[in-house]
Amino acid sequence: MTSPVPDLFAAALAVRAHSHSPYSGFKVGAAIRSDSGHIYAGCNVENAAYPQGQCAEATAIGLMVASGDRRIAEIVVVGGEAGSGLMCTPCGGCRQRIREFAGPDTPIHVHDAGGHRRSFTLGELLPFSFGPDNLGF
Ligand code: THU
Repeated sequence: MTSPVPDLFAAALAVRAHSHSPYSGFKVGAAIRSDSGHIYAGCNVENAAYPQGQCAEATAIGLMVASGDRRIAEIVVVGGEAGSGLMCTPCGGCRQRIREFAGPDTPIHVHDAGGHRRSFTLGELLPFSFGPDNLGF
């Protein structure tokens, strides 16, 4: 399962190792390539007060914004063990978080720890989305 974006996969796999997920045991890594070409990687960060947990995509987006970038060119999500047969597509909340900084054609490459599973566009995962343009931005 060779990744179409090996550098982003490597970044997401590496940061996934730092996942703080003692409650679910489900490690996730995400890596963003911004339009400036920089890579921002983040992992999920769970909390004993369960609703306070944060997804890997949210961590990566926060790092991107804090670093001064604003546009996602493409994003990789790595979740699930190799050969699990399941895809860790971004949760609904994270689809909306990605939407803030991406458009309908932005690729989202879903991997497990063993490699590439499938690529989608944001428009496929979040059709008819509500975004900044709805507010005139
Ligand atoms: N998780 C992510 O980090 N990203 C997703 O898109 C799906 C779910 C995390 C949240 C939680 O820490 C664990 O996976 C199990 O739901």
